[in-house]
Amino acid sequence: MKTLRLALIGFGNVGQGFAQILIEHGSRLAVQYGVQFKIVAVADLQKGSVADAAGLDPQLLLQAAAGGDFKSLPEALQRDWAALDMIAHVQAEVLLELAFTDLQTGEPAYSHVKAALQKGMHVVTTNKGPVALHYAELSALAQAHGVQFAGEGTVMSGTPTVRLGQDVLRAAGIRQLEGILNGTTNYILTQMESGLSYAAALAQAQALGYAEADPAGDVEGHDAAGKVVILANLLLGVPLRMADVSCQGITGITSEMVADAQLAGERWKLVGRLQVQPDGSVQASVQPQRLPLSHPLANISGATNALAYTTDLVGTVTVSGPGAGRLPTGFAILSDLLAIARIA
Ligand code: HSE
Repeated sequence: MKTLRLALIGFGNVGQGFAQILIEHGSRLAVQYGVQFKIVAVADLQKGSVADAAGLDPQLLLQAAAGGDFKSLPEALQRDWAALDMIAHVQAEVLLELAFTDLQTGEPAYSHVKAALQKGMHVVTTNKGPVALHYAELSALAQAHGVQFAGEGTVMSGTPTVRLGQDVLRAAGIRQLEGILNGTTNYILTQMESGLSYAAALAQAQALGYAEADPAGDVEGHDAAGKVVILANLLLGVPLRMADVSCQGITGITSEMVADAQLAGERWKLVGRLQVQPDGSVQASVQPQRLPLSHPLANISGATNALAYTTDLVGTVTVSGPGAGRLPTGFAILSDLLAIARIA
């Protein structure tokens, strides 16, 4: 049985979802894949930090997190590691970087990822910041140290999107990617079709936990643009940057526009698009579009996400599924870890 030791930065919804998966599915995964995962350290800005080379019990971590901090865990454990200290001192094969996303600087996740890769640790992240802003540098660093830098959960959470593209569909010659990559905006547009106002639909999306802490990043299209940049870098091998994406959100879409489209048998969708040009360059955009109902993305409703890959060899392949959520994003981490376990 192979064991991968894990150090976590961030123990919010995603880290807790992953811990829950280990508790409920760890034994099955050990039988199916011959690998077990041991959490040896956790550093969280709010809850504090805790580490034990012998392994931390995920159930106790969850119970402590429910109380707001790690104080209820045994006194004797290592407790004074801030995130960078933890990376410097921990004995672990993989860093899970699950802290908050910042699409302006990528920090503090960027520094965490860099330090871990330089130390020779694999890194799995669900954090869009370091992947959207620094992928070229970080993947080169990973390669130089013979480790993986993986981010399945950065796009469409655990719905297999990134690895499907990288490992399988890239070989089929990807010509275009078109996606509904933001659940909040798709939820708002769907609710507006049922007669809800933009403001009421946004309030619902926030209450349901789909929106970013500052929902401007969702409704103005920046979250989707970050995912477009990630797809360009990881699936097309093109070092696109945020500024290269022509980006427009849904703030200008009115209830009248939604009703007009419905009358014409069409739907407004916020579409993220990457088109490979004949010279190999890539055109990237995020913009609201009226799609005919025959379009593969037109019937994706609510907070669901979807990505349509148009390829030379298999035509168009569309994948749809959750784009956020505790267990789906925890599952994204698991799928990256299983891929790392295959080579580690
Ligand atoms: N705020 C994002 C969304 C969460 O609505 O899709 C997942 O990245």
